Amino acid sequence: MENIARINDVSSIDALEKLRAELLGKKSAISEGFAALKEASPKEKAQIAAELNRQKTELTNAIAAKRAELENQEIAQRSQKEALDVTLFDAFDRGGSLHPINRAMEEIVEYFLSMNFEIKTGPLVEDEFHNFEALNLPKYHPAREMQDTFYMNDGLLLRTHTSPVQIRTMLSEKPPIRMIAPGAVFRPDYDLTHTPMFHQVEGLAIDEKGAISFANLKHILEDFLNSFFGDFPVRFRPSFFPFTEPSAEVDVGCIFCRGEGCRMCKNTGWLEVLGCGMVDPNVFKAVGYENVGGYAFGMGVERLATLKYRIGDLRSLFDGDLDLLEQFR
Ligand code: PHE
Repeated sequence: MENIARINDVSSIDALEKLRAELLGKKSAISEGFAALKEASPKEKAQIAAELNRQKTELTNAIAAKRAELENQEIAQRSQKEALDVTLFDAFDRGGSLHPINRAMEEIVEYFLSMNFEIKTGPLVEDEFHNFEALNLPKYHPAREMQDTFYMNDGLLLRTHTSPVQIRTMLSEKPPIRMIAPGAVFRPDYDLTHTPMFHQVEGLAIDEKGAISFANLKHILEDFLNSFFGDFPVRFRPSFFPFTEPSAEVDVGCIFCRGEGCRMCKNTGWLEVLGCGMVDPNVFKAVGYENVGGYAFGMGVERLATLKYRIGDLRSLFDGDLDLLEQFR
């Protein structure tokens, strides 16, 4: 009986094995009892043997039962430890979201796709011809200074704007052209409103001479800005770009103070948001186009995103700041 209690107390299969050897093995009391049978009288023999067998069966059964119990315990423990808890993450609640830059980019691209513009892309590593020369930025133009550009060997550079995609498209296709070029651009700047890598969306519309006017340009940019920012006034200011003539910078009425004057608009009531103009004849010369005309525009995606989402420091878009990003879910 005492042995049955010992079996029931065991807590591992190893310990049970040891106990089994002790209780039923060669040196166990039962084995020795069987060995001693030959010295017993025939009358006692049957009785003792029956008792030894009863004990042996009792112990064997108790050990088998304990073994089954321990094995079940082990399986239960294992399956608890190794189980895949499919409820562990609330996948929907923790899902990611579009980065504000992608979100603004998508919205811009969507608008122009809906206006029949086609998406074009070009390499980030450009040559001087596509990035500068063909865009009427000759060798000694100030915008080509080392400070304004990441140069590499062999006259290669990281493109400083998306305008080279205009050139690549015009060189490989015949007019009419109606394209946008979204993508990354690079300039060695770093402050509240600049990062060395940022994104632009370029636009270009070309058709036969006289078919596209400045009024068309003005209309589409006003319509775009109203669809992007809401109902704010838009104004065109004369400006200069080497690749457009005439050129304009486009302002939207300050979305923070509605034109009253604040820190964001530097008390002017206006926010500068993009550059544009009618394509300069020198650009057409560079790509071998004749008797055509059209407009081009370019906008900074981070600039538009920081204004629309009211993000104070443009650089924070690249900090992986979860507190900022989670607001865009
Ligand atoms: N490429 C100009 C820039 O990066 C923007 C622009 C594009 C201006 C097309 C006019 C026309 O500043």
